[in-house]
Amino acid sequence: MPHDPAPPPAKKFKPGSPFFRLNKKPGMLLPRKGNAALPIDVQRKHLPIYQAKSQLINQLRQLHNAVLIGETGSGKTTQIPQYLYEAGIGRQGVVAVTQPRRVAAISLAGRVAEEKKTQLGKLVGYTVRFEDVTSPETKLKFMTDGMLLREAIGDPLLQRYTVRKRREQNKFPLKVLIMSATMDVDLFSQYFNKAPVLYLEGRQHPIQVFYTKQPQSDYLQAALVSIFQIHQEAPPSHDILVFLTGQEEIEALARTCRDISKHLPENCGPMTVIPLYASLPPAQQLRVFQPTPKGCRKVILSTNIAETSITISGIKFVIDTGMVKAKKYNPGESPLSLFRHCFVCAK
Ligand SMILES: Nc1ncnc2c1ncn2[C@@H]1O[C@H](COP(=O)(O)OP(=O)(O)OP(=O)(O)O)[C@@H](O)[C@H]1O
Ligand SMILES: [Mg+2]
Repeated sequence: MPHDPAPPPAKKFKPGSPFFRLNKKPGMLLPRKGNAALPIDVQRKHLPIYQAKSQLINQLRQLHNAVLIGETGSGKTTQIPQYLYEAGIGRQGVVAVTQPRRVAAISLAGRVAEEKKTQLGKLVGYTVRFEDVTSPETKLKFMTDGMLLREAIGDPLLQRYTVRKRREQNKFPLKVLIMSATMDVDLFSQYFNKAPVLYLEGRQHPIQVFYTKQPQSDYLQAALVSIFQIHQEAPPSHDILVFLTGQEEIEALARTCRDISKHLPENCGPMTVIPLYASLPPAQQLRVFQPTPKGCRKVILSTNIAETSITISGIKFVIDTGMVKAKKYNPGESPLSLFRHCFVCAK
């Protein structure tokens, strides 16, 4: 079924750029060579969390609740469940890892199964609405928050996920670990009975942030200019992720990008534009993870769905329009209306 029955017209592209030119000092803007070519075991050892592995396991053995804060991509979601399993913590039960979006749960389960060199649905599985890829063997289970809530209806103490101790057969402590790169740690620590906060240091890649010199009245035009500026200047293997506010905007900009890319000079390589938003069918959402042919740049136009825990390898540039759609209560109007808000966020 088409998702956009009355597509808005493609936007006109104005040449010129409201931005700083990309600074091409070697090694400055262009991130260092990725380590995707390394064997997956070695990639795991390069993650910042690996340095803290034994310390973390010791802490997590003793604690029932903890809050863990660490940079995005440091390895919280993919590594901690494996560390717990390898250390025998919770082996009698199941380690559940919740994610706010199904696309995150599915892709993370796939990655961890690959790291564990096992078929998805055996040791590592996932459960999302209408899809359960788990088996009695599954010990590391990625799931959406909604699925855990649904399970809690039938099993309010979540006994499947409890850590049974040999000496205390009757006690079923449930370990709860809250992990994030951006949360308000004090708030969460208070809520979980003053749970200790563990800080994880280090990030995987250097990051450089560039801002527009002036506020942009037309943020779509500004995003478009940035996409093509990068497309003309950066190596084709450096993919681009653009944050926009919703389906209509994404589909319109996708059409504009595809139109423009057909009329670029020959020295400019091809471009694949992939949309990502919540109402896209799940199979189409997973397209963002597919590699593009050599020499072709991937441009992902996404809502903040791409902000939640997913890793898309190949992305070297993020263009953040700083805008997001948010619900707002307006007395006298319909109970909740959707507005576009300027939202300065860390991505
Ligand atoms: N689907 C994937 N494909 C390739 N590499 C991946 C994938 N998922 C994770 N990785 C690798 O594992 C690293 C750790 O990812 P992980 O999701 O555990 O980070 P995180 O600390 O949970 O980040 P966030 O705070 O964004 O959720 C990534 O930086 C990336 O190198
Ligand atoms: Mg994560």
